[in-house]
Amino acid sequence: MNNVVLCGFMGCGKSTVGRNLARKTGRKFLDMDRYIEEKAEMSVKEIFEKLGEDGFRELEHQACIELSDKKNLIIASGGGALTFDRNVKVFKGKDKIVLLDVPLDTIKYRLRNDKVRPLLQREDKDRAMEELFMKRYPRYMAAADVVVSGQSTPMKTTIAVMEAMKL
Ligand code: S3P
Repeated sequence: MNNVVLCGFMGCGKSTVGRNLARKTGRKFLDMDRYIEEKAEMSVKEIFEKLGEDGFRELEHQACIELSDKKNLIIASGGGALTFDRNVKVFKGKDKIVLLDVPLDTIKYRLRNDKVRPLLQREDKDRAMEELFMKRYPRYMAAADVVVSGQSTPMKTTIAVMEAMKL
């Protein structure tokens, strides 16, 4: 079976919903950021510090290529991954891309205490999130084969994805 690739903004629930989906469908779960970290032997934070965002995006692109070669996975992509055409092209037509759609206010609330995501460690975090969200939202929508609301509990969202995807 083709992979299911969850996409959406940081904090939309890709990893939690992905793990639930894998458990419920008997598929293997793969978190793209953890995959990148294991290969690079560095945390995402360290990769940003040492290689910059561009360096991280290269590793992310490589991860997309490698993961799309596998089958039967539930993949939680990184929040930026599917905003790049070259990554969308890797999965599109082969795997199913699902957007977990969560409004900006909910995202802001969920990420209010975040201390790990490199893009959010700044004074003007709220403004940065707003700008990034506005820029990215149309890209997620264009990339997605299916859009599911991710505003409810992770389990309700998981079931909504299963129904939408007929998993
Ligand atoms: C990023 C999101 C993060 C991680 C990196 C960059 C982004 O993943 O890939 O910090 O550009 O939105 P999550 O969406 O899992 O937080």
